[in-house]
Amino acid sequence: MMERELGRVLVIVPTYNERDNLPMIVERLRAAVPEAHLLIADDASPDGTGEIADALAADDERIHVMHRPGKQGLGAAYIAAFRWGIAEGFDVLVEIDADGSHRPEELPTLLAALNDGADLVIGSRWVPGGKVVNWPASRELLSRGANLYTRIMLGLPVRDATAGFRAYRVSTLEKIGLDDVQSQGYCFQVDLTLRTVRNGLRVKEVPITFVERTAGASKMSRAVFVEALWRVTAWGITGLPARLRRRRR
Ligand code: GDD
Ligand code: MN
Repeated sequence: MMERELGRVLVIVPTYNERDNLPMIVERLRAAVPEAHLLIADDASPDGTGEIADALAADDERIHVMHRPGKQGLGAAYIAAFRWGIAEGFDVLVEIDADGSHRPEELPTLLAALNDGADLVIGSRWVPGGKVVNWPASRELLSRGANLYTRIMLGLPVRDATAGFRAYRVSTLEKIGLDDVQSQGYCFQVDLTLRTVRNGLRVKEVPITFVERTAGASKMSRAVFVEALWRVTAWGITGLPARLRRRRR
């Protein structure tokens, strides 16, 4: 089994108001990757998601819960969860949304690609074979536009740099360093992709089918969008001299 070759796998599920999704995603993950441990990182969801997480963990020693004091953003939740996973001695850390958009059944494919010689594997909507189901045209335009802007500004050889379905080797996270990550929202995904590429590590994209949620609501907001726009722009400008130097050589 792939999980065994890679070492100990921790799947991190960040949650904010995912009461109607959490039992479903946990059940599907347990079936898809039975050896893996799960960490639910909840930001004190007002809808009681944290209590549901505790009840799931009480019945299963492979399920862990991190209760955070309040909504501090997806990036902040993942950084805290990564630190926990590294301290607990895991070898691979997986990111997956709680709402079913990332299908746990496709996780073994991501892990196989990691095992095949990658330092980061991204489940990608925007490579050949990748798909999005049930997204309004406006949301598809936002994601494609964000990825196009990111590619132009940063020169990243990645089609889906904002994707949230990923597998990292712990060695990758140790090499890129998490201490100075300031991204709070979804731009955290771009931030870590950029760090991985700039460190000369291997990124592989595998096509996935992203299925829009049927329960609960997206936490995408104007604030998340604005943070991503200004940070990507700033990274593009500060990275420009190095890009030009490389091009001239
Ligand atoms: N703990 C915590 N704190 N979890 C959060 C927070 C937060 O502040 N904000 C969002 N989440 C959790 C949600 O509960 C869900 O499990 C996951 O993060 C993704 O949130 P969604 O709100 O469902 O994201 P989306 O569907 O709009 O966005 C998708 O596309 C983005 C851009 O491509 C996701 O795949 C993102 O990962 C991706 O960056
Ligand atoms: Mn979602």
